[in-house]
Amino acid sequence: MAEALNPSLTRRDAARLLGAAAVAALPSGWTAQRADVDALLGKLTLKEKVSLLHGANDPASKGEAGYVPGVPRLGIPELRLADGPAGVRATADATALPAPVALASTFAADLARRFGAVIGREGRALGMDVLLSPMTNIVRVPQAGRNFETLGEDPLLAAALVVGEIRGIQGEGLIATVKHYAANNFENARQTVDVKVDERTLREIYLPPFEAAVKTGVGAVMAAYNHVNGVYAAENRHLLTEILRDDWRFGGWVMSDWYATHSGAPSLTAGMDMEMPFGVNYGGLAAAVTSGKLAESVVDTAVRRVLVQLDRFGLLGGGRPRPSPDPAGGARVAKEIALAGAVLLRNEGDLLPLGRADLADLAVIGPTAASPLVGGGGSARVIPAGAESPLTALRRQAAPGSRIRWATGVDLEGVPVPASALSLRRTQQGTQQGAQQGGAPQAAAQVDHTGAGALPAGSSWTWTGTLTAPATGDYDLRIQGAGGVPSFNGSISLTLDGVKIGSVGALLGGNSSLIATSGGLTNAGRTVRLEAGVAKPVTVAATGIAGTPLQVRLAWVTPQRRQEALREAAALAKGARAALVFAFNEGTEGADRAALALPKDQDPVVAAVAAANARTTVVLNTGDPVLMPWLRNVRSILQMWYPGQEGADATATLLLGGANPGGKLPVTFPARAEDAPTAPAERYPGVGGVADYGEGVLVGYRFYDAKGVEPLFPFGHGLSYTRFQYGDLSVRAAGGGLTVSFTVANTGRRAGVEVPQVYLGSPAGPPVPMAPRALAGFARVRLSPGERRRVTVTVPRRALQYWSDGRWTLAGGRRTVHVGSSSRDLRLRQEVTIR
Ligand code: BGC
Repeated sequence: MAEALNPSLTRRDAARLLGAAAVAALPSGWTAQRADVDALLGKLTLKEKVSLLHGANDPASKGEAGYVPGVPRLGIPELRLADGPAGVRATADATALPAPVALASTFAADLARRFGAVIGREGRALGMDVLLSPMTNIVRVPQAGRNFETLGEDPLLAAALVVGEIRGIQGEGLIATVKHYAANNFENARQTVDVKVDERTLREIYLPPFEAAVKTGVGAVMAAYNHVNGVYAAENRHLLTEILRDDWRFGGWVMSDWYATHSGAPSLTAGMDMEMPFGVNYGGLAAAVTSGKLAESVVDTAVRRVLVQLDRFGLLGGGRPRPSPDPAGGARVAKEIALAGAVLLRNEGDLLPLGRADLADLAVIGPTAASPLVGGGGSARVIPAGAESPLTALRRQAAPGSRIRWATGVDLEGVPVPASALSLRRTQQGTQQGAQQGGAPQAAAQVDHTGAGALPAGSSWTWTGTLTAPATGDYDLRIQGAGGVPSFNGSISLTLDGVKIGSVGALLGGNSSLIATSGGLTNAGRTVRLEAGVAKPVTVAATGIAGTPLQVRLAWVTPQRRQEALREAAALAKGARAALVFAFNEGTEGADRAALALPKDQDPVVAAVAAANARTTVVLNTGDPVLMPWLRNVRSILQMWYPGQEGADATATLLLGGANPGGKLPVTFPARAEDAPTAPAERYPGVGGVADYGEGVLVGYRFYDAKGVEPLFPFGHGLSYTRFQYGDLSVRAAGGGLTVSFTVANTGRRAGVEVPQVYLGSPAGPPVPMAPRALAGFARVRLSPGERRRVTVTVPRRALQYWSDGRWTLAGGRRTVHVGSSSRDLRLRQEVTIR
């Protein structure tokens, strides 16, 4: 609050607010040329100041999400703000890193720093100034759409990673934006939902990663869409001023999430400095000042926050030279993190890694084996220059003489709807500009203009007619295409019976799949019930972009084909020595998953393959937990998440034993949907527009431990191709926290990585309801076969505290320190007295 009311904040004050850690996060020399921000502010007109507080259209867009014009006469640069959490989202191809959930699985802050550095350099190279990442909302709801984009369910883990990542991003000179502040933990009704959450839960669970980001000097914070305790996050004084500025001394600026600003002066006064992506509300700030409704000093405070960061990052007065892109360096880090973040969930009888005999006759099943699922959907989607499929990588890496055959199992692609089911007329052909061409309508039997049969670039087409199914059943109707002009609602679309059921080319992905067709087309659509012999009106419309041939296909997967695909997969598996089933879900911004189960009838396929082959492994390309009704019937499960552009190479390397998985789950996998802490409707999605975070601090594993519920796989779980032994625990008090040391030995025959985890038990008779155990520290150690190492983990003082009456208080008394290989595989324990 103090800062908002104090327009005379000086440059020195600003530097003090940024703190030493902030400065340390920049390359040396970057703070040398500080401009006099106050003098600069004095030269700006009111109009110019306001123009720095909201987004605008970019006259020379590079495909970024947001743009703020500069004030060239004073050397204040225009700003380009790009997503996001898994790489730079721009028009140009960029390195598609593994999804942040995979990064979280590494439990490695140094890898987070390297992950951030790839994005930092590439962002700068591609003309960006601000990155809309990292995202560090705690995973609370197992089916939340954006779980893949964030850093897991534990605040201590997320804080450690977010700090590493910000150092990496900002160390390359790109301003990081930590998002979405705060309590934006699911997608359904995200723009309106009111999160009812108590202060202790906020401080202990949802805020620590943001606090850590601020303490490490993050340049910007993004205010979330939702309400928090009745007030929009983007005008929430408690969050934006009392906590962020007064408590944490944040010296950067706050921008709203896209269209998350709901007022002008009240939001600004509450501490929200910049409205994005346009000045719908903030465009009126100058008038509010002129009419006396808003003090200009409040505007100045916000502008100063922006300018201080631009100065700090060397962007004022001509800026800094931009680096060249380093795609090879990006690819190396992408692969390293895909390898390090892979989690071996199960490996009965050490089926993995696959041996020569398995490779001599291997059945590979699943669409994501042949078309890679690189990343999740929405604003975090990054388009890489290319991505190999796991099937290709396996064939490439397997020894000569291997036989690796593939069946889709689940057909996402289908075949062009045959002429026999369609009665079509091509009624219109035009140009992109909409001018109609051609005279009489031409008859068309099918809509299948792909490959050599593609339509001219920039043309636009509409086919109308009827579709008649030969038999009653559920049909997957698919619209597939490429070369459409990017548009908000999609430029290649399919409408059935007046209802749009799929579109390709939508800016935020529409309902198109993250998995392309085998020919590389974007694939969208949905399952509809069709009655035999009933003709349904159908329209396919396509508008192409200049310079790229327009490809359009209307396809379907018939009920019969669905059965066939399953039978083919089972038959292939039956005859093979071993089987690999690739299963997926498609996490995306904007929508939560409807259920925790695998989508698209994948469970029956996994079950059929497992029944047909006793040596079955499941490879998961999911962004978060899924249910596994077939678990006991498969021997091995490798969780690859959305592994980025190098994911296929990493997957094959791990399956074949060229690398040893060492990742650990950053989220609990529930055995049943009803076991999740957010199963009651009032908690998620909420009732009457209110989501009651009534589980309090019992989020993730804390809840399962407190309630004695057995998860499918616990937080921190992850196996290895080798074995680790723990011993010799010692705990001592140090620096207000604890120093915990122990030995870890690799007792197997392969080199491997172990992530020993330290959990702190609650005191007997806790002063407030506490989780039985909470993560208090961790390490990541690589050990050669037979190697034994002494590991020391520092438990910070904060891990011994709880939030009460407006401050952190020690939870003293007898407490148990546990050390283990997961939250449920605790190997060592020692009682300590905390005072
Ligand atoms: C998302 C943000 C993103 C922004 C810009 C919003 O819909 O919630 O995470 O940075 O769009 O693309």
